[in-house]
Amino acid sequence: MRTTLDETAAPSVTDGDITVASLEESDLAAADAVLRLAFGTALGLPEPQRFAEGTELVRTRFRADPARAFKAEAGSELVGCVFVSRWGSYSLFGPLAVRPDYWDRGVGRLLWEACLPPLERWRAAHTALFTRAEPKNVHLYQKLGFWPGSLTALTGKQLDVVPSPVVSHPFSELPAGAREGALADCRLLTDALYPGLDLEQEIRSVDLQALGDTILLDDEGGICGFAVCHAGAGSEAGPGACYLKFATVRHGEGTPQRFERLLDACEGYAAARGLTRLLAGVNTGRHEAYRSLLDRGHRAFAFGVAMHRPNEPGYDRPGVYTVDDGR
Ligand SMILES: CC(C)(COP(=O)(O)OP(=O)(O)OC[C@H]1O[C@@H](n2cnc3c(N)ncnc32)[C@H](O)[C@@H]1OP(=O)(O)O)[C@@H](O)C(=O)NCCC(=O)NCCS
Repeated sequence: MRTTLDETAAPSVTDGDITVASLEESDLAAADAVLRLAFGTALGLPEPQRFAEGTELVRTRFRADPARAFKAEAGSELVGCVFVSRWGSYSLFGPLAVRPDYWDRGVGRLLWEACLPPLERWRAAHTALFTRAEPKNVHLYQKLGFWPGSLTALTGKQLDVVPSPVVSHPFSELPAGAREGALADCRLLTDALYPGLDLEQEIRSVDLQALGDTILLDDEGGICGFAVCHAGAGSEAGPGACYLKFATVRHGEGTPQRFERLLDACEGYAAARGLTRLLAGVNTGRHEAYRSLLDRGHRAFAFGVAMHRPNEPGYDRPGVYTVDDGR
C-alpha cells in the first residue's frame, strides 16, 4: 500500500486496484448512486437504487465541508464513498458505502484510513458512528477501533395536531452581527454535554445551503436550546418531513420542561412549512430524552447501534436531553 498524506494535500491511498482520494464536486452523482445502491442492497429493498428517494444524503454533507469526503475508485469507476463530520472535539464517521460487487475486498477499511488524517488534524477526542447492528458492520468497525455502545432509535411522529406556538427564533433571521454570539451561546450548551462539542458546522451548513433552519429557544439567560432542522425534499429529511439533525437544551434546573418547549417549537416550525412528519433519532443511553420522545408520540421505525472510538459513551448517558442519531 502507498500512502501520501500531509496537512494540506488531498489524501491518496492506493491498494491493489483501488485508489482512495478526496471526493470532488464532479463525483457527487456517482457517489449518490453508490450510496443508495449499497444501503438499499444491505436492507434487501426490491429496487435498492431507490433507497431514501427524495432525501439528500451526499450533497449536503459534501457541501458542508468537501475536505471531509472521500471516494474509492477502481480504475475510473467510483466504487465507494465516506463522510466524516467535525462537531468540535467530537467527530462522526459515516455514512460509509461500498458498491455491493466490491464488498469484502477491504474497500471499507481503506476509506476509513483516508479519514484518519483529518481526524488527527482536528484532534478529535472522540469519534462515534451509527450503524445497523449486523455482524459484518460490527466486525468491521471493531477492527477499526470502534466498540458498541447503546442502541440508537430512529423515530418519527405524525404531526396531526399543531402545538401552541412557542417563542423561538430562527438562526436564518439573525442579523449578521448577532450570529457569532448565537453560535457561541450554542457552543456553551454543547460544551456542557461533552467538552469541546460544537455544532457550528451543522448550523452554518443548514443556513448556507438553505436546507432548513436552526431554531433558537430563549429564556432570561439567553439562548437555552437549539435545534438544527432539515426540512423537506432535497435535505436530509426527505419529502414531507422535518429531521432533527441535532437538538439540545441548557442542562440544569428545568431541563425536561425546556426540552419539551424545544420540541414543541420544532413541531411548530415543521407545521408552518406544511411538513407532516417529525423525524428524530436518539441514543437510548440518553434514557430521559428517549422516554420524552416516546411520551410525545414518537415511534421508532428502526434501531441501530452507536459505536465509539475510544470505547467511551461520549454524551450517550442518562440525564442528557439531546436528540441526534449520529447519521
Ligand atoms: C459496510 C460496508 C461499507 C463494508 O464495506 P466493505 O468494503 O465490504 O468492508 P471491508 O471489506 O473493508 O471489511 C468487511 C469485513 O467484514 C467481514 N464480514 C463480511 N461478512 C461478514 C459477516 N456476515 N459477519 C462478520 N463479518 C463479516 C469481512 O470478512 C471483512 O472483515 P476482515 O477484513 O476481517 O475479513 C459495505 O458492506 C456497505 O456498503 N454496506 C451497506 C452500507 C452500510 O451498511 N454502511 C455502514 C453503515 S454507515
